[in-house]
Amino acid sequence: MEGGARVTVKAVVIIAGDNNVRGSLQFIQDPSGITHVKGKITGLSPGLHGFHIHALGDTTNGCNSTGATF
Ligand SMILES: *[C@@H]1O[C@H](CO)[C@@H](O)[C@H](O)[C@H]1NC(C)=O
Repeated sequence: MEGGARVTVKAVVIIAGDNNVRGSLQFIQDPSGITHVKGKITGLSPGLHGFHIHALGDTTNGCNSTGATF
């Protein structure tokens, strides 16, 4: 960040789609640069699951317009 100012940065995602999976997640990057992810997701089948994060929230062309993956 220009000038070296350190601030807390937050983002929120609301999860909803064509199936029963629902939820919301908060991403909170503290001034040290560490990002904490917390929230709740329901409707998943039992077992392990993963997720990935795209650079853009533009879904006008499906996943093709969501940019790079972190
Ligand atoms: C996304 O890109 C792939 C590969 O070019 C293409 O086959 C697919 O139809 C595209 N999807 C959409 C929703 O445009």
